[in-house]
Amino acid sequence: MRPQNLNCVSLVLIVALLCQSVHSQLQVGFYTTSCTLAELIVKDEVRKGFFKNPGVAAGLVRLHFHDCFVRGCDASVLIDSTSSNKAEKDSPANNPSLRGFEVIDSAKARLEAVCRGVVSCADIVAFAARDSIEITKGLGYIVPAGRRDGRISQASDTFTNLPPPSFNVDQLSKLFANKSFTQEEMVTLSGAHTIGRSHCTAFSNRLYNFNRTSRQDQSLDPPYAAQLKQQYPQGNTSPNLVVPMNPASPAVTDTSYYADILTNRGLFTSDQTLLTNSATANQVNQNAKMPFLWRTKFASAMVKMGKLEVLTGNTGEIRANCRVINS
Ligand code: HEM
Ligand SMILES: *[C@@H]1O[C@H](CO)[C@@H](O)[C@H](O)[C@H]1NC(C)=O
Ligand SMILES: *[C@@H]1O[C@H](CO)[C@@H](O)[C@H](O)[C@H]1NC(C)=O
Repeated sequence: MRPQNLNCVSLVLIVALLCQSVHSQLQVGFYTTSCTLAELIVKDEVRKGFFKNPGVAAGLVRLHFHDCFVRGCDASVLIDSTSSNKAEKDSPANNPSLRGFEVIDSAKARLEAVCRGVVSCADIVAFAARDSIEITKGLGYIVPAGRRDGRISQASDTFTNLPPPSFNVDQLSKLFANKSFTQEEMVTLSGAHTIGRSHCTAFSNRLYNFNRTSRQDQSLDPPYAAQLKQQYPQGNTSPNLVVPMNPASPAVTDTSYYADILTNRGLFTSDQTLLTNSATANQVNQNAKMPFLWRTKFASAMVKMGKLEVLTGNTGEIRANCRVINS
């Protein structure tokens, strides 16, 4: 073969590869022609859910996180357990704390009615997370779509892929690095804890059972600890007891999460630990002082999170019911 021909062949190959990679990626406006109202319908259901219970917005943001970190953003978190399979949603990391499923269900029901079999549950979750950030006054962003739904959901997958609230900064950085996030992006995404609530079981060790030398975590502001102890007396075994994570503005996506950390009022070890490393402590300071910077960084980190290990093209399926894989 002459060198010129070789060039032609490699050009064709490169173009073919490029086309393939474009097809296996998410696209902005994916439903513009196939289901024009898709994003509006999701937004409308998020709005309805939010007016019934503002906490639902936080639930939906966390739902997207827990979906994407376990088997990628494939709506595996929505699948119900069966007699032969314990699904992600029934892992202690998700049950009883994860919420917002009913908003996804009602959006899906409306979408199936207007464009049957077109809009994936994984995309609904991604849109709903964005709409939840917007409705809590955070910065909106454009969500590339075209995710398809997975057919596997196993509770055991949550153990290594979702961070527990007891993690320190090194453990968090490692886990997020494994999902291709920088340490700074980890700090940025943690700012999601500016909205929502926590079950007391997630931080009770910091109040009553910290370590050998101290029953209470000294890195937790003592007046705040006292207040939390009132809300959650020792020996109260109710698994349903909850407190807001950012009591000043639990339904506003602002930067007061970082202000909480600076006053030793981060609720989890995984929040307060961000002050124990000089790089992450600087980022906490910066985010607290520069809300616009954080809002922008958070929006792009959410877009990035929404691309984790997605199924596209002919892989996966479009589930008819977000709770069950198609038969
Ligand atoms: C950095 C590591 C993280 C840890 C250890 C962690 C842990 C937790 C825990 C234990 C809760 C309390 C759930 C409950 O008991 O009801 C919670 C709530 C929440 N998390 Fe995280 N999380 C982390 C990162 C993230 C990220 C990256 C996001 C989203 C981008 C997120 C969004 C939320 C939201 C919005 C809530 C409130 C949920 C509600 O009110 O229903 N978290 N998180
Ligand atoms: C994350 O960890 C898994 C399991 O150990 C490994 O297969 C994968 O390659 C890692 N990914 C990155 C980006 O480090
Ligand atoms: C126990 O916690 C205290 C207070 O937070 C801390 O100062 C101390 O270093 C910890 N001790 C051990 C053994 O981890």
